[in-house]
Formats: sequence, structure tokens, C-alpha cells
Amino acid sequence: MGKQFISLPSCHSTNDLMAQMSAKNQLYEGAIIITKHQTKGKGQRGNQWNSPDGENLTFSIFLKPQFLKAAQQFELNRMVSLALLDVVKSLSDEVKVFVKWPNDLIVNKKKVAGILIENSINQNGISESIVGIGLNVNQMENILPTATSLAQQFDKNFNLDKILLDIVQRLEHYYLILRSGDFRFIHQLYESNLYLKDKVAFYEDASGKFNGIIRKVYPDGVLEIEDESGIIKKFHFKEVRLLS
Ligand code: BTN
Repeated sequence: MGKQFISLPSCHSTNDLMAQMSAKNQLYEGAIIITKHQTKGKGQRGNQWNSPDGENLTFSIFLKPQFLKAAQQFELNRMVSLALLDVVKSLSDEVKVFVKWPNDLIVNKKKVAGILIENSINQNGISESIVGIGLNVNQMENILPTATSLAQQFDKNFNLDKILLDIVQRLEHYYLILRSGDFRFIHQLYESNLYLKDKVAFYEDASGKFNGIIRKVYPDGVLEIEDESGIIKKFHFKEVRLLS
């Protein structure tokens, strides 16, 4: 990964640029597009992803995980969150780092990174995957109350190139595991680092707010929450929100 490396001072969105370049057959598997500034950074649920110039990491990686069927898309979310988790965990033994379903990285209860994966599917499975990563690294100001940065958490600045290299190495590591078919290993690791697993928290779904406990994530990424009356509820992405 990273043998084809495109670094730009600015672009709309590294994910969008990657999609455009892929449509013109300009990318090899493992290509990285990174920019200091996105004018139209995209987040999950149609949100914007804003990041001050040059302070954080905003980049995309191009994969061709043709060994995955469409129903296995969530394997990519798992492996990317685990790669980020490893890198942030390696910075200190003291901080608590978790993956919040489906794939936010949480440090001391606040979001430090987001992942936006855009897959192209054909009859054989996933033909291409654009993995967009936004990691708040050196940002100190104008961070949403629910978010944070590595600098805020660790009280120092980080070398962006070094963090990027570490992420790419961990991604490569987990990608090879996925390619070998060892999904179970990835599932167990994801599950054991899952935020609020087996803990009571406050959620909201289409029918209202409720207290519940995350019990598991199914192979296809569906989240299982047991509500306070013991009823098991299952959610796809966007169908439930953590309130507390
Ligand atoms: C989220 O909302 O949590 C996902 C955020 C993903 C942001 C990254 S930044 C690089 C890549 N390009 C984009 O436009 N979005 C992703």
C-alpha cells in the first residue's frame, strides 16, 4: 500500500477524487490520496467532514477486495477500525481507546477518527473499495464537544507522516489477514474492543429512546442491543444512535 502516493495541498474530497481517478483507470490497488485541506470533505450519514488546514490526517486508500462478497462488506469496516485502534493504542498505555459501532474511533469517550468506506459491487462481490480516513491529530481548537484529537488527549503534537505510515502498515497487516480468510480473528478483535459492549447506555431508534446493552455485532455488521426489558433489537447502520 502507498506505492502510488498522491499528495495534494487541497481537493474537494479525497474519496471523490479517488472515485474519479478510478473511473479513468488511473489507480493501482493500494494507492493513497492525501490532502492537507478538503473543501468538501464527506462524513457518514451525508455529514460534512471539516478539518483545519494541515493539522490532521485526511486521506483515502484504494482497495480491490474481490475476495469479499457484497454481504461481507463490513469486514472492511472492521479491519480499518482495528488498524486505527492499534496505532492510537500504541501511543500510550493509559488512554482508553475503543471502536464505536460501526467504525468510529473513540478515545476517552470522544471521537478522534471517522471512516467512510465506499464500495463498488458487482456480481462477483466487492470490485473496488475507497477507504476514507479522517484522524484528528494536531487540532487543538474548534473541535466539537463530542470529538477530540490526539494532541488534545496526549498533550503534544505528532508527526503526521509517521502516524500515516503506522496506519498504512497496520492496514496492510489486517488486509492480509482478511485475504487469508481468517475473519474470525478479526471479528474477535473487533468485538473485544467494542465501545460500550455489555454496558448500559442510552440509545434512540425509530420508535424512541431506550436504555440498552450492546451484546454483539453479527458478521454482516448488524448490531444487537438488548433493551431494559430483555428484548433483543437488531440494527443496521443509521438505524440507531447512542445518546449518552
Ligand atoms: C465520519 O463521518 O465519521 C467519516 C469521516 C470520514 C472523513 C474522511 S477524510 C478523508 C476522506 N475523504 C472524505 O471526503 N471523507 C473521508
